[in-house]
Amino acid sequence: MSAATLDTSTLPPGPSGPRPLTVARFLLQPETFIPECRERYGPLFTIRLSAERTVVVCGDPAVAKEVFTGDPALLHAGAGNVVLKPLLGPRSVLLLDGPEHLRQRRLMLPSFHGERMRGYGERMRAIAEQHVARWPVGEPFAVHRSMQAITLEVILRVVFGVEEPARIAQLSAPLRALLDSTSQPRRLLALQFTSSQGARPRTPWGRVRRLLAPCDRMVYEEIAARRAEAADGSPPRDDILSLLLEARDEDGAPMTDRELRDELMTLLLAGHETTATALAWTLERVTRHPDVLARLREEAAAGDGAGDAYLDAVIKETLRLRPVVPAVVRRLQAPLTFGGWDLPAGVNIAPNIWLIHRDPQLYPEPEAFRPERFLDRTPGTYEWIPFGGGIRRCLGASFALYEMRVVLQTILARAALERTDAAPERVTRRFVTFTPADGGVVRVGSTS
Ligand code: HEM
Repeated sequence: MSAATLDTSTLPPGPSGPRPLTVARFLLQPETFIPECRERYGPLFTIRLSAERTVVVCGDPAVAKEVFTGDPALLHAGAGNVVLKPLLGPRSVLLLDGPEHLRQRRLMLPSFHGERMRGYGERMRAIAEQHVARWPVGEPFAVHRSMQAITLEVILRVVFGVEEPARIAQLSAPLRALLDSTSQPRRLLALQFTSSQGARPRTPWGRVRRLLAPCDRMVYEEIAARRAEAADGSPPRDDILSLLLEARDEDGAPMTDRELRDELMTLLLAGHETTATALAWTLERVTRHPDVLARLREEAAAGDGAGDAYLDAVIKETLRLRPVVPAVVRRLQAPLTFGGWDLPAGVNIAPNIWLIHRDPQLYPEPEAFRPERFLDRTPGTYEWIPFGGGIRRCLGASFALYEMRVVLQTILARAALERTDAAPERVTRRFVTFTPADGGVVRVGSTS
């Protein structure tokens, strides 16, 4: 359904100013724009981001549940993520819908099963230890960059199966350049405004494509290397690329190189920045809450594993108040009714994680950072949704939660994090994520 034929007369109300202003506020004022709209227009409101992108924002948990459990044939997520296509490619599980999405998802799901993650724990711990050992002592520094380095290395080792440090360094540099090129707010604005121009030279997406070329070359080299090892009878490996090479669909067909490339880029983009940002937020939050930090350190020092429940609660509370991905999107393929509004085909509906996680009915005193709330009570499936939900729920949720636990345990054991009276960091948008504006500034004492 093109924008020209989209009947917007039955949409919920929303800001009606000039569209560039709406887009700029949406991108540049992440903490205030959406909550202000919620206040003014109610739990469902409409924002128009481009001719092709009219979004009904949903801050009502009951309606969000209907969206997550609705018919995936009528609620496409891939179409809503189309802005990522030049980067991820057409076979990315994030961009597909219907039977094609299901096929890719089924091929990938077993490799991300919760139990499997324990096998990666030692590698994750070793990577985190190396990076934490390089932290400065006694002076404040932004921890986000270090978290990015850790999570990138985890993806390269655990997902891509790369082992040699020299090759890791060789792969990291162009990937870092590519990921950085899509993450600055100003560049993001340019990408958003010009997505309809495609990736012609001299366009913002054209520049992304130039940075993509060396990454693609290396990703295809890794696929070829892993295929060659499988063919010459080398011992079986447990990295996720090797598992994906073995995966077969219902007709017994394996993934093609193109599919593997698109899924590896998807795992890299979906799994690296998100987890790094969630870790940076956790450290930003706990250093500003001395009681939480003290309890974490005490339980880590006891070293009997009993502290895991509290650490997991801290992670959950961070992802509640600072959801790294603030919203998910589904595009209607037919007219549907949500929250009493008859929405036309072509419109997007976006359960807003930021708003739902601040619903005072679900979370009393919602702005308070209180991990204990997750010890007292387990929230409902559609009340705590940092990983989205339904048939599109994050494939890497267990991976991310496990990695966060291991990295934070390592930090607590190796670095004397200090409390700070600094104000909470503002939220800034990097591509599709909400990150700490100053990079999560922390200080480590000398008595570790
Ligand atoms: C704290 C870290 C993470 C957060 C907050 C996060 C969040 C999300 C969200 C909100 C979605 C969309 C869900 C929806 O539309 O309902 C998603 C999808 C996805 N995530 Fe994550 N993610 C994280 C880490 C990871 C990791 C580590 C991986 C893999 C290594 C990963 C792989 C994916 C994939 C493949 C999808 C697409 C699923 C589909 O469309 O079927 N994510 N993630």
